[in-house]
Amino acid sequence: MCGIVGYLGHREALPLLMEGLKRLEYRGYDSAGVAIRHGAGFEVCREVGKVASLESKLGQDPSRYRGTEGIAHTRWATHGVPAERNAHPHADDKSGIQLVHNGIIENYQSLKKALESKGHVFRSETDTEVLSMLVGELYEGDLEAAVQAALRGVTGAYAIAVMCAKEPGVMVVARKGSPLMVGLGNDEFVVASDPSAIVAHTTQAFSLDDFTVCRLSREGYRTSSLNNVPVTPKVMELEMKLEEIELGAFPHFMLKEIFEQPDALRNTLSGRIDLKRGDVVLGGLQSSGPDLVKARRIVLTGQGTAWHAALVTEYMIEDFARIPCEVQYAAEFRYRNPIVEEGTVFVAISQSGETADTLAALEEAKERGALTLGMVNVVGSTISRVTDAGVYLRVGPEIGVASTKAFIGQVAVGALMAIYAGRRRHLSIDRTRSLLEELESIPDKIRQVTSQSGSIRDLVARYVDRENWLFLGRGYNYPVALEGALKVKEISYIHAEGMPAAEMKHGPIALIHEGMPCVFVAPKGSQHDKVIGNMQEVRARGGRVIAIATEGDEEIIPHADEIIRVPEVSEALSPLVTTVALQLMAYHAAVLRGHDVDKPRNLAKSVTVE
Ligand code: G6P
Repeated sequence: MCGIVGYLGHREALPLLMEGLKRLEYRGYDSAGVAIRHGAGFEVCREVGKVASLESKLGQDPSRYRGTEGIAHTRWATHGVPAERNAHPHADDKSGIQLVHNGIIENYQSLKKALESKGHVFRSETDTEVLSMLVGELYEGDLEAAVQAALRGVTGAYAIAVMCAKEPGVMVVARKGSPLMVGLGNDEFVVASDPSAIVAHTTQAFSLDDFTVCRLSREGYRTSSLNNVPVTPKVMELEMKLEEIELGAFPHFMLKEIFEQPDALRNTLSGRIDLKRGDVVLGGLQSSGPDLVKARRIVLTGQGTAWHAALVTEYMIEDFARIPCEVQYAAEFRYRNPIVEEGTVFVAISQSGETADTLAALEEAKERGALTLGMVNVVGSTISRVTDAGVYLRVGPEIGVASTKAFIGQVAVGALMAIYAGRRRHLSIDRTRSLLEELESIPDKIRQVTSQSGSIRDLVARYVDRENWLFLGRGYNYPVALEGALKVKEISYIHAEGMPAAEMKHGPIALIHEGMPCVFVAPKGSQHDKVIGNMQEVRARGGRVIAIATEGDEEIIPHADEIIRVPEVSEALSPLVTTVALQLMAYHAAVLRGHDVDKPRNLAKSVTVE
C-alpha cells in the first residue's frame, strides 16, 4: 500500500526511481508520481493509473527530468479519489518543499485549518499535502529541523521522503508506523518502502525506527529522534536475491510463487525438525517456548489469508497441544474490550509484518500483559520487532498480491508450534515423529498438485463464466474453503463465498441454482461421509460439484461432476496440499477472465492503514 522510492547520488535519478516504482507496484496503488531536482527547483510529473502511464507521460519530454536527486511514489487512495491533484509528490506553497508519504495523518483536519488561517491554499484533498505545507511553514533554512518540528505535531502513521528547493544535495526521510528503508550504496542512497526496490543497487541498508528522522546528503547520513537526539541505525546485509523478485520464465508472480511452494516449505522446515529426538527446534522460541507450553489460552490473530492460516493453526493447537485457542480478526480484537488473563499467549500472523490492524492488536495485547509471539515472513518488519519472540516463515519475498506461499509457510509454522507445544504436553514421541515425517513429505505432495496446473485450467475454463461460486469444507477443510473463496474473489472478481459445509443448509443453500459451481474441499477424513451428504444436497438443486479429493477415493466419484485429485495426507496437514489446488483454480480463473493477476483492482499487498 503506497510505495516510496528516493534517490540521492551521482547517477541519473529518473530511471532508477521508475525501476523502483515498478518493483513496488505489487504493493497496490492507483496513481504515481515523481519529482526530480532540476536547476533551482523540481520537475514534477504525476499521473493516475499504472506506473507505465506515468512513464509515457515522462517520455513526452525526457530532458526536463534530468537530475541526480529525486523522490517517487505510488499512491493507494485514502483521502481523496485517485486523481492527478491527489497523487504524490505534494508541494507546499512557501518554501519549495516536495514530499511523498505512506500512511495516514490522523489530525490533518485541525492542522489544515490552522494552516489555512495562515493563508495557505490547498490544491488536493489529501492529508499528505497538509504535511508538506506544515514542513514548508516551519522551514527556516534547515529541512531536517523543519521535518522534525512538523512531525512533533502530527499523529498517525507515516513514512516520508522530503526535499527542499533551497537545499540541493539533501533529502530527509522519516518514519512512524509505515515501513521505510535506507540503502547505502557507493556515494549514493536509495530509499524505499521495501528492500525489493533497493537490492538491485546495494545490499547494505537499515530500516528506520518509529519516530526517527534521517538526513541524507552528499557528505553522508545522520539519524535522529524527533527531538534531534542522535540515533544509531542498525545497518544490515539484505538477504533478498534479485531472482527472488523477478519473474523468470513465469507469466505472473502468483504462478511463480505457487510453484515455489515446495521449496519455500522446505525452507520453512529446514533445521526445525529433529526426527531422532522426535522434536521441533524453534530457535526463535528459545526463551518464550516454556510460556507457550504452559499457556492457559492462545489467541491467534491476522487479517485476510493470515486469518485463515490462524484458523488452521487453532485446530492444530487444540488437536496436538490441547491448549484452548481462539482466532480473532485483528481489527476486531483491537477495538473490543478483549480479555487478556494471565497465561494468555497472543500470536500475530502476518506475511508483511506491517499490517496496521495486526500491529495495533498486537500492541493492545502486549499492553494488557500477554506474551506476544509472531509468525512473520518479512525479516526485520515492524511486527517481528514488536513481538516478544517469534518464528519466521522463511518462504522468501512474496510479490503476488494474492498470498500463496506465505499461507503455506504460516500453516507450516503453525504446525511446528503446535507440535512443539504438544510434544511437551502429551503428544507421544511416535505420533510426533509421524507428524514430523509427514511434514517433510509435503513438499513433494504439493508438487503433485502443481503438476496438474494444465488440467485444473481446463476444468476452470468450463465454469469461468459463472458469477457465483461456493467453497465448502468441514473441519480442517473449512479454513481452506475460506481461503479458496478469498483467492477467487481477490483476483478473478467472481463473487465467491466460503463456509463450513454444514452451514450451507442454514441459508446459503437458497443461492444454489442450475450450474452454480460448488467447490468441496473433501479429502479423505473423519467427516467424509457427511461432506458427501452435502454434495448430494447441492446436486439435488442443480449445483455443480467440484471436489478436491484424495487419490484413490472411489466413493466420491458418483457424487462429483469434477474431481481434482490430491495425494493422501493426514487430516491436520491436508490444508498444506488442498489449498494449492484452490490457488491454481483462482489463478486460472483470473487469467481466463483476462485480469491482471499480480495487480488486482483495489487491493494492496500490505495494508498499512486502518
Ligand atoms: C492484504 C493482502 C492479503 C493479506 C492481508 C494480510 O489484505 O491483500 O493478501 O492476506 O493483507 O497481510 P499480512 O501481510 O499481514 O499477512
